[in-house]
Amino acid sequence: MKKNARTMAMLTAGILCVAASNLSAEADAELFEHGPEAQIYIHGAPQVPSEAWMRAAGGRIYDNWWDALDRDPPEGTNPAYPVDVNQAQSGEGTWRCKECHGWDYQGADGIYRQGSHFTGIKGIMGAQGRPVEAIAALLRDENHPYTTEMITDEEMLRVATFVSRGLVDMRTFIDYETRTVNAGDANRGREIFQTTCAACHGFDGRALDWGVDGEHNFVGTEAASLPDEVWNKIYNAHPGVQMINLRAFPVEEAINVMAYIANLPTGIE
Ligand code: HEC
Ligand code: HEC
Repeated sequence: MKKNARTMAMLTAGILCVAASNLSAEADAELFEHGPEAQIYIHGAPQVPSEAWMRAAGGRIYDNWWDALDRDPPEGTNPAYPVDVNQAQSGEGTWRCKECHGWDYQGADGIYRQGSHFTGIKGIMGAQGRPVEAIAALLRDENHPYTTEMITDEEMLRVATFVSRGLVDMRTFIDYETRTVNAGDANRGREIFQTTCAACHGFDGRALDWGVDGEHNFVGTEAASLPDEVWNKIYNAHPGVQMINLRAFPVEEAINVMAYIANLPTGIE
């Protein structure tokens, strides 16, 4: 386990503490650390991995491979990152797949077509349906200087499975002009949220707060402004924490959840 993984802190205990007191954001972040009983669920693999598990596990590697796999973060800026195009990004973040290809997998054609994450690099939607082994091989080329110490061959097959068979076209439920959710049945989403997500996030989505520096960041805050990022979190789970994901259920059901959480409270008022 990584050095910051606390030995005995149970997630449930953490949630109770967050709800009961108003600790600083940094202290709150500590409380999301999981206990040893959750290590395999969060960072390991089942003995007989299902297709849904493979896709979600690959999606978490796409999001942040060192948090997903419990590795040390990479040091320095990714040599493959186009620093000539973008001076706003540097350091470990430039090693995340999403940094070059976007939360929406559409690279320069998607949400990252402008703004502080622009690179001009194309998306990965065109790789859908390609053989998993061919995608895994590509992820060792000069654009992808990942060593087997960073991501093993077996783990690379997970992310390749995600690329080949796990991508969703977010243009079907996100308005790209306003970056907001514009589809889904919020009443159906309410049913799913209240019976699953609320166990950890609370009925109004404010039981967990990952905001820093006095800012609040709840499910509602993030869903209202960064729906493309939130999609990855709910269909694959947030890497490195004990969270469920909706991967085993139809895309439409996850879109219904998106419609609901986009209207949850965004602040403390
Ligand atoms: C530093 C930037 C960068 C990062 C990080 C990055 N890639 Fe790429 N990727 C590229 C570039 C550049 C290409 C080549 C694009 C081209 O051909 O125009 C590419 C190509 C691809 C392709 C082929 C797309 C196609 O249509 O042929 C896939 C799939 C892909 N990357 C997946 C990933 C995955 C998965 C990760 C994380 C494990 C990742 N990439 C991380 C820069 C990056
Ligand atoms: C078993 C507990 C648990 C359940 C159930 C759960 N989550 Fe989470 N979720 C977490 C934890 C822990 C975090 C991490 C917060 C942090 O530290 O960033 C998190 C993070 C998130 C994030 C933000 C990730 C980020 O930092 O960008 C979103 C969005 C989210 N959850 C949505 C949901 C939704 C929607 C559901 C239901 C489909 C759900 N969660 C179910 C525990 C849970």
